[in-house]
Order: sequence, then structure tokens, then C-alpha cells
Amino acid sequence: MAIPFAVYATIIAIVILLMLYVKYSHSYWSKRGVPYLEPTSIFGNMENPFNLKVGHMFSFKRCYEELKKRKERFGGIYFFTEPIFMPIDPDLIKSILTKDFPHFHGRGFVHNEKHDPLAAHLLNLEGEKWKTMRIKVTPTFTSGKMKYMFQTLLDCGNPMIDHVSHLCEKEQNIDIKEIVACYTTDIIGSCAFGLECNSFKDPNAEFRLYGRKEKAKAEGTEPLTIEEIAAQAFLFFVAGFETSSTTITFCLHELAFNQDIQDKLREEIREVYQKHNGKLTYDGIMEMKYMDQVVNETLRKYPPLPILNRVCSIDYKIPDTNITLETLRKYPPLPILNRVCSIDYKIPDTNITLPKGTKVVISNLGIQTDEEYYPDPMTFSPERFSEENKATRPNYTFLPFGEGPRVCIGLRFGMMQTKTALAMLLNNFKLTPGDNENYNICFDPKSFILQKKGKVLLKAEELCA
Ligand SMILES: *[C@@H]1O[C@H](CO)[C@@H](O)[C@H](O)[C@H]1NC(C)=O
Ligand SMILES: *[C@@H]1O[C@H](CO)[C@@H](O)[C@H](O)[C@H]1NC(C)=O
Ligand SMILES: *[C@@H]1O[C@H](CO)[C@@H](O)[C@H](O)[C@H]1NC(C)=O
Ligand SMILES: *[C@@H]1O[C@H](CO)[C@@H](O)[C@H](O)[C@H]1NC(C)=O
Repeated sequence: MAIPFAVYATIIAIVILLMLYVKYSHSYWSKRGVPYLEPTSIFGNMENPFNLKVGHMFSFKRCYEELKKRKERFGGIYFFTEPIFMPIDPDLIKSILTKDFPHFHGRGFVHNEKHDPLAAHLLNLEGEKWKTMRIKVTPTFTSGKMKYMFQTLLDCGNPMIDHVSHLCEKEQNIDIKEIVACYTTDIIGSCAFGLECNSFKDPNAEFRLYGRKEKAKAEGTEPLTIEEIAAQAFLFFVAGFETSSTTITFCLHELAFNQDIQDKLREEIREVYQKHNGKLTYDGIMEMKYMDQVVNETLRKYPPLPILNRVCSIDYKIPDTNITLETLRKYPPLPILNRVCSIDYKIPDTNITLPKGTKVVISNLGIQTDEEYYPDPMTFSPERFSEENKATRPNYTFLPFGEGPRVCIGLRFGMMQTKTALAMLLNNFKLTPGDNENYNICFDPKSFILQKKGKVLLKAEELCA
């Protein structure tokens, strides 16, 4: 049966309208005189989302590199049809994250209440909730509380050591990614919900399964319903633990391939154990200098959250330009550290103003693998974080936790649980790459936390004390 002409005509009309819409959307930055990257397809500067090969994180990194090559201080890019402002210059990043924080902090939604009561209410609640939560949660991470929680880290670390010990008797390739995930799951279970650490006894423990399920949901494409927001809050908490788990895993991967660094770190760990009567203590962890460098080098090469995003809450005028940008309504590309529009922002030293609602993405992955700051960026070298070497870099070139008033609240706790796991594992085991493990990592393009695709296999050999 022939398809009626009207159907063809309608389809063609829709396609034409769509093309016009994309073309119009992609003229946003050129109209405003902001330096920009030409969109390469209807997906803007992003990868085809239906056939992800490396993931959007790496698209943002490429944008960073391209703008940097052109010696721009900042530039406009497109996330599909959505304009995104990307600062390149560390000083501008500093302004956005700290000095001009009020522009990038969602509190102006009160004014929209009349026009959009639901959105205003929800988003406003978020802003309020952020402030209240921040105030409520901050005391959780004082040194006193951290010392108290440290015992939990040990309690959850011991079953992990037993488990690895059991596995290496059988000389198996060990999926360290799963083991570390059990460890961090146990920690969240006991710190937040008072459950016992039993992921190792029962790998299908309800809590571990729940963590997996929530994670799968978040990585899917289903839109968020209001009912899911509570679950998302929980997920966000879980994600905090996921970032530690992925950091520990990447670190162990690097150490397995860099035996000299592993030996040097083990030496420090054992010295500190000895100094504290053969025990791992909170103060002991704090004394490990080389450990700090190793963990930071891991976070540099593998920032768990490879982009920081902000929404301009106040119009922002770009310094030294006359450019002003418009309000956008949609959600940011990655629901991490997002902000809502409130006041225009004039970019320092330009005449450009970013109107409220402008989304900002900082590619910390791009910055942290920028040759200007980290020569030979793919080499794992904790020496980059020695005092002398740190002094040669500008500030705001190491941003795994963000910066400013919204710097990751769990920073110290995350570092603590990462270092505890590393100290316990390296004190007990010598780690080497598993069979067929490649040094170069293939990342999971769908995950919003930087993760290796598939397992991370290591071999462990038990050391005598
Ligand atoms: C490692 O990073 C943390 C968090 O940014 C920082 O507090 C610490 O000083 C860094 N240590 C070194 C040796 O760079
Ligand atoms: C910004 O505008 C002011 C006056 O409007 C002008 O004097 C100044 O030169 C401009 N700066 C730049 C960098 O364009
Ligand atoms: C900005 O506007 C001012 C006054 O309108 C003009 O003098 C200046 O040249 C403009 N600067 C740029 C970078 O366009
Ligand atoms: C970086 O920040 C520190 C502390 O705020 C400051 O002392 C130092 O001078 C800054 N370095 C540079 C290169 O701006």
C-alpha cells in the first residue's frame, strides 16, 4: 500500500524544522561574540549518545584541549543543542569557584515562584536543603568524629584483608574492583545505617544489592520522578562512597604496574605501623606523606568526577569583553554539583556578562592532564605532589574535589577511607597485574563516575609482617 503523500510531507517538514532548530541553537555563541568550538554534529561537541565510545567526560576533555590549543581563556561549546560555558584559565576558574561564588549559587528562584511554582518550590527546596544539609552534615566530618569513625574503617577493612588472603591462597586473579566496592559499601552501611560489615560474608547482602540497583537506575536514561528524588539523595550519598572505591581501585592498578612506587609506599606504611606499636591509627594515616602524594596523583590522573559543573545563578560578564549570555532552563549535563540561576555574572577583565542560567562546565580531567601543568601527563608519578613540584604549578590546576564553598564535604572522610584501605592492603600483600591486564585503561563510557569498564584483575601475594 502506498504511503500517502501527506505523511511524507509531514515527515519532511518535521525534519526541516528540527534541522532549523539545531542550526538556531548552535548559533548561540557566535551571536554573542564568545570564542566557541564549531559543533561537529547535531550532538554539538559531544559524542553520539546512541553509540558512546569514550563517553561525554572525554568530549569535555577534548573541548578543553581544543580551546587551550587556541590559547583561549574560556570558550563556548554545545552539549547537544545546549550552550555550555567552559573556563580554561585557572584564574577564571578560581573566580567562578570561590571569589564570585554568589553568582554560581542557586538562590534566586524565589523570584520565579509566580511563573513556575512547582519548579521554584522544588529548586528552592534544593537550595535551602543544600544550606541546611551543609550545616547539619559539616559536624559529621570534624576531626573528633573522624577519629571515632576510624574504628569503623578498621572493622570493615579486616574482613577485606581476610577475604583477599583467602583468595590468594588459591592463586586466583582477584577482582579488586568488586572487593573494594564491598569494603566501601560496608562502611556506608555501618556509618550511616548502623549495619554490620557483612558484604564479604554474603556478597549478595541486601544492602550491597540495593547499592547496585540504585546505581543502575542512576546510570540509565529514565527521567527522574518526584518520588525518586528521595532515592537520589541516598544515591548521592552512595556516590560519595563510589568515588572512594574507584580511587582505591585505580590506585591499586597503578601500584601493580609500578612496583617501585608500591615498594616505596609500603616502606612508609610499615614505618608508621611500627611507630604506632604495629597498629594502624588515625594519626598514623595522617603522618603518611608519600601516601598523600600517591593518592593525589591517582586523583589527578583519574578524577572520580571528571567534570565540575556550575550554573550561573547571577548574570556573569566575561572580563575584557562585551558578551552577555541568556537564561537556560534545563538540567545540567551531569547531575553533580549543579547550580541554579540567580544573578548575572560579569566575567572579570572582560565586558562579557553570563546571564543567569548559563551552565558552566569545568573539565578537571582536561586540566589535570594538561601538559603545561603536568608534563608527560599519562605517567603516574607521585613526585608531582612534592612541595617543590607543587610550587611550580598555578593554583586551581588540581580540582578532584572542586573548590570554594561547595568543595566536596566528604573530602577528608573520603581520603581517610581510601588511605586506610591502601595501608591495610599494602601492609599485607604484594600486588601484581592479573593475567591479561592492560596498563592502559578502557573507561566505561556510560558511567558518570570515572570507572574502568569491566573487572580490575590483580594478583596478591601474602607478605609476612
Ligand atoms: C592532596 O590533596 C588534598 C585535597 O585536595 C590536599 O588537601 C592535600 O594537601 C594534597 N596533598 C599533597 C601532598 O599535595
Ligand atoms: C569594556 O567596556 C568599557 C566601556 O564600556 C571599555 O572602556 C573597555 O575598554 C572595555 N573593555 C574591553 C576589554 O573590551
Ligand atoms: C565593548 O563595548 C564598548 C562600548 O560599547 C566598546 O568601546 C568596546 O570596544 C567593546 N569591546 C569589545 C571587546 O567588543
Ligand atoms: C596559591 O595559593 C596559595 C594559598 O592561597 C598562595 O599562598 C600562593 O601564592 C598561590 N600561588 C599562586 C601561584 O598564585
